[in-house]
Amino acid sequence: MKAIVLVGGEGTRLRPLTYTTPKPLLPIANVAFLERQLSWLARHGVDEVVLSLGYLPDAFVDHFPSGRFGDVKLTYAVEDEPLGTAGGIRFAAEQGGIDDRFVVCNGDVLTALDLTEMVRFHDERGAEATIHLCPVDDPSAFGVVPTLATGEVVAFVEKPSAGHAPTNWINAGTYVLEPAVLERIPPRLTVSIERDTFPRMLDRPGALFALQRDVYWIDIGTPEMYVEAQRDVLTGCIGLPPVDGATELAPGVWQQGGVSVAATARVEPPTLLGTGSDVGAGALVSGSVLGRDCVVEPGARVVRSIVLERARVASGAEALDAVVGSEAVLEADASVRDLTVVGAATVVPSGSRFSGARVPLQVAQP
Ligand code: GDD
Ligand code: MG
Repeated sequence: MKAIVLVGGEGTRLRPLTYTTPKPLLPIANVAFLERQLSWLARHGVDEVVLSLGYLPDAFVDHFPSGRFGDVKLTYAVEDEPLGTAGGIRFAAEQGGIDDRFVVCNGDVLTALDLTEMVRFHDERGAEATIHLCPVDDPSAFGVVPTLATGEVVAFVEKPSAGHAPTNWINAGTYVLEPAVLERIPPRLTVSIERDTFPRMLDRPGALFALQRDVYWIDIGTPEMYVEAQRDVLTGCIGLPPVDGATELAPGVWQQGGVSVAATARVEPPTLLGTGSDVGAGALVSGSVLGRDCVVEPGARVVRSIVLERARVASGAEALDAVVGSEAVLEADASVRDLTVVGAATVVPSGSRFSGARVPLQVAQP
């Protein structure tokens, strides 16, 4: 079975991390998000994936130099201009020679959905398209999708204003589509599947179905969810070990390869220490992920935070509910808190304090 993964967006809500790394290649518990998604697709029988690309396409080609991920063959469909979600699907399907029922995923959704069951549901109903729905507390940031008891979709309302959602079951960003859907999408135009294609499909009864499944699901696209997804992976929410080959040092404390932890350091679960990470005397690492070759100097604190590879938290500095980009440095006594996101290779000066900030705010465009 073939799949298209939509990975062309700019990931604006995760800037400045996404200035240098596209959102799907950001790590979730030290494994690129897209690798987790491709593994999930492969477990459900997908053997060929077209990556629908636009933003920073070379990063994907560099990440998968062989054009494969395990047993999955990868094809790249690079848009000159963003074609939107439906335009991107049509273009990717043409590039990947898709002429049979296929799967589409948003490239930022981590889920334990049983895709095999979803494909069966789609086939049994003879649907033209089937959407996975999951329930959320606040549907206003999503596509909201009321259905009949049979699963047939009765409306598709993308991002309704607060308090106006007809249901709290939302589009979870996984679709099973028949090739007939492609004919509904005008070629080489910017078209949204959520705002254009799905709503128009309602004109033909019996075409658009949805499968309601309240399974583990998260969109990693905001700093809050990006941090939460990693904690979920460490605590086993998706039903798999956090990283292949990691060992559990103490309950909920995982280690990949060799790490150095001083005797007087405290490491509290759920935490993952990447290969070569170094935690100094009296330091605290709690509920966090350290990437490969990270350094937490003596007396530093990393709490409920994600520190990407080769970053350094200097003596007396702290990261509390923060994301620190790869090769970034928190100099001595610096403090980043409350969902502050520090970009790659950024130096946060000694003694400075940031709360809920993006550091740096802007990267000069070449
Ligand atoms: N190829 C391509 N071209 N991909 C795109 C484009 C484009 O022009 N625009 C966005 N994408 C990709 C993004 O990279 C992402 O993987 C996916 O499409 C969805 O875009 P987001 O920007 O993450 O959308 P969202 O999270 O606000 O809303 C979408 O996902 C929700 C579930 O997480 C919608 O599908 C909602 O209906 C849904 O509820
Ligand atoms: Mg999203």
